[in-house]
Amino acid sequence: MSAALSRVPTLQRMIAGACGRSAVWQAAASRATISSQEVYEREHKYGAHNYHPLEVALSRAEGVFMWDCEGRRYYDFLSAYSAVNQGHCHPRIYRAMVEQAKQLTLTSRAFYSDALGEFEEFITRLFKYDKWLPMNTGVEGGETACKLARRWGYDVKGIERYQAKIVFAEGNFWGRTMSAVSSSTDPSSYAGFGPFMPGFEVIPYDDLAALDKATSDPRVCAFMVEPIQGEAGVVVPKEGYLRGVREVCTRNGVLWIADEVQTGLARTGRRLAVDHEAARPDILILGKALSGGFYPVSGVLADDPVMLTIKPGEHGSTYGGNPLGARIAIEALKVLEEERLAENAERLGRILRSELQKLPSEVVTLVRGKGLLNAIVVNEKVDAMEVCRQMKDEGLLAKPTHGHIIRLAPPLVITEPQIHECVSIISKVISRQKI
Ligand SMILES: Cc1ncc(COP(=O)(O)O)c(C=O)c1O
Repeated sequence: MSAALSRVPTLQRMIAGACGRSAVWQAAASRATISSQEVYEREHKYGAHNYHPLEVALSRAEGVFMWDCEGRRYYDFLSAYSAVNQGHCHPRIYRAMVEQAKQLTLTSRAFYSDALGEFEEFITRLFKYDKWLPMNTGVEGGETACKLARRWGYDVKGIERYQAKIVFAEGNFWGRTMSAVSSSTDPSSYAGFGPFMPGFEVIPYDDLAALDKATSDPRVCAFMVEPIQGEAGVVVPKEGYLRGVREVCTRNGVLWIADEVQTGLARTGRRLAVDHEAARPDILILGKALSGGFYPVSGVLADDPVMLTIKPGEHGSTYGGNPLGARIAIEALKVLEEERLAENAERLGRILRSELQKLPSEVVTLVRGKGLLNAIVVNEKVDAMEVCRQMKDEGLLAKPTHGHIIRLAPPLVITEPQIHECVSIISKVISRQKI
């Protein structure tokens, strides 16, 4: 084990002492004067019913752990859909946020700030692209990528005005806007929300022949794809797919947009999931862990011939690129790099999968994933939501994705002994299931 990796548990222990955060947490904990039951009832009464959460009401978190209103501790095996790769309430990111919040939080892009350029320089050097276009949520990153691709299609590729097409893969998920649901193949995303965005075509995932055929159409400007499909249930394509996507897109003169909102930023055991095949997309979308869970920060990376097709006044967002988000994101990226979280994800992911493979195969029919983005597929006769409820009662929080798939994605600061403890919890619950 490298010296840096062996420091990971120490860093976690240091968290409590850093920058007086234990006092902050105690204050937070003392505010949880409401019971979990009251939390559920209040949300149900006053909030829209657009989610179906697991019955757990959380009031604080640290590293890999979360605590509910009654003080029960849980391992977080969802990481807010891979937004808290750095662990909850990371002290360095917290410090960066507080320092910046004292100085300057929002200017809008009507003016310059001293923080945005620093962030742009940092992120473009790290990922080796010419330019960064900042937004806030992951889905805005996807929208930005689609707009850039269409504009490039007209201005550079010479597609006839408003005839541009973007190709997507079946099972994709990139959020909930009208464009995102228009490309979706999941009825729970799109049904009842038409009419849909024109100029979108969907092909099977992990199918290079279909990609070649679709992108041979001269009206196609881009192919947008997740290197591993997260929401579809951690679907890992065949080795060589990403390299193949690069080749086909180059040959057919279309842009490759990689949606790394969930897979990027160390989650799969590399800085980016495309790094597993040394494949470089034309447009790269990042979000979620770009702020380590503190604040929505997203955006896209591209080189000048693509990025500079959008001119002043043609795209943007009031909060996108704000100084608070910029300084949080710089620190969140530094934490990923300096704590070598991709290496930790790679090593512990292998251990996790090899332990999960030992679970009874009549209950767990498949184990898949990369790094610490993993899933188990359970027998159709088993109620996956009920499995998650039982794991919750044993102190581990996870959520089914589609039907019988349970995603297992802890914060990347998790340690080897903790992985083993979590495997025992999962194993205890799985062995209890009757087929
Ligand atoms: C691959 C991918 N892209 C985009 C998004 C949308 O991100 P957000 O919810 O921040 O809009 C998600 C969310 O889960 C995602 O998994």
